[in-house]
Amino acid sequence: MNDKWNSKVGFVMAAIGSAVGLGNLWRFPYVAASHGGGAFLLPYFFAIITAGIPILMLEYTIGKTYRGGAPAAFARINKKFEWLGWVQVMISFIIFVYYLAIVVWTLSYCVFSVNQAWGNDPQGFFVKFLGVTDSAHNLGGIQTNLLIPFIIVWVIAAFAMYRGISKGVEQICRIGLPVLLVLTVILVVRGVTLPNASAGLEYMFKPQWHMLKNPNVWVAAYGQIFFSLSIAFGIMISYSSYLPKEEDVVNTAFITATANHGFEIFAGIGVFSILGFMAGSQGVPVEKVASQGVGLAFMVFPQAISELPAMKGLIGVCFFGALFVAGITSLISISQVVVTGIEGKFSFKSHKQATTIVLIPALVVSLLFVTGAGLNILDIMDAFVNNVGLAFSGLLELFLLMWLSKPEKFRMLANEYSNFSVGKWWTYSLKIITLALLGVMAVLNTVQYITKGYGEYKQIDINIFGWGALVVIIVFAIIFTTRKGRDGYDTLEGIEELVFEEA
Ligand code: PHE
Repeated sequence: MNDKWNSKVGFVMAAIGSAVGLGNLWRFPYVAASHGGGAFLLPYFFAIITAGIPILMLEYTIGKTYRGGAPAAFARINKKFEWLGWVQVMISFIIFVYYLAIVVWTLSYCVFSVNQAWGNDPQGFFVKFLGVTDSAHNLGGIQTNLLIPFIIVWVIAAFAMYRGISKGVEQICRIGLPVLLVLTVILVVRGVTLPNASAGLEYMFKPQWHMLKNPNVWVAAYGQIFFSLSIAFGIMISYSSYLPKEEDVVNTAFITATANHGFEIFAGIGVFSILGFMAGSQGVPVEKVASQGVGLAFMVFPQAISELPAMKGLIGVCFFGALFVAGITSLISISQVVVTGIEGKFSFKSHKQATTIVLIPALVVSLLFVTGAGLNILDIMDAFVNNVGLAFSGLLELFLLMWLSKPEKFRMLANEYSNFSVGKWWTYSLKIITLALLGVMAVLNTVQYITKGYGEYKQIDINIFGWGALVVIIVFAIIFTTRKGRDGYDTLEGIEELVFEEA
């Protein structure tokens, strides 16, 4: 592993590229709007300060100090922790294969936007476009109309994976981020100048203070933070393993978080202005049209684009182009977790060989999502892997590092090369507040899926693709942990001594 970032700016751009993803555009605005509007920003801000920035700092610190992907970094902290790294690698593998499919759809929709190919029935168009079957286990064959965008997205992902950090990831993010910003600015400017935009903004930002008494609002704030900042996936650990040890992680964590949340709010203004306009032209209240995720992007937004007075094609391309670029830079970040993890443990002839070993199974599994069952499988897997898998991954990460290790050591390591030192609040936030909230979140989500299932899906589909995905994560994590790696995998000469000298 001789790769490293060309510059600090390159690293920061890649970290922001990972954090700024589909979630910023299609998840945050709705989560905020439906959990107290402007009042949501308060628990959210609290979650950023007590969880988001502290965990980013923690992950940057352990990545750069223990210089490895998640499994190697955890193993070097304590041999008994390696398994958690593999859990994160497996979570990342699964998210990679389905996130890729969404990026594929956004690419197709960039093209459809030009002449609004969805006509006056965006919903029917989308279902037909994906060839959606009646259930998640009825694959219905590969959708050949998805193959060209599928290949394009894979070429970009493979480019980043083979060329590695400095020649692949950094390059893509340096181009992608400015492009994303330009597209988003156009969307926001067009959005706020539309008639009735203010109704959308009011819906998103008007504070409903009474909601703050609702514990769900606080859980939602914490849930959004993890996904939004790409923490507990192993992403930031992998990325920072290519940093020099002298990097100032405190300021980098602040920059990443500020850019991500700034972008989130900015994009939200664009999205909800356009929704406000659409609600106005249909004469319905904004909450009737507001939604999130796949529904917002591929059903509601196309409708809104069709109703625009002018420049429909341009705005459509900007919206789906923004989703595409935001998605690609997050997609490549998650691929690095798997490559860095595998490459860190086993011996390979070259980086190329290690990449190929990751790429082939990923390619095969990702084909599942271009079948007619893709949308349904994706929906179930996404819910279980994020709401249960990721919640437990964050919970266990904090438990192992804050309770079974020496948290003050990590704080010292974070402060070592930083201009601004973080105080003890950092340890308390993570050890107590964030851990408790994550615990509540993980348990609530799990209990809900056990007792109520998920959505309208049949139990068999939930068992295969929801619980099944979690079982796959655990089984493979055990396999990878127990396999013997190359010599010296879990030691990093000099590191431990240095830590204890200064602690
Ligand atoms: N931060 C990303 C987002 O907001 C989350 C993510 C990162 C998802 C990487 C997948 C891969 O969309």
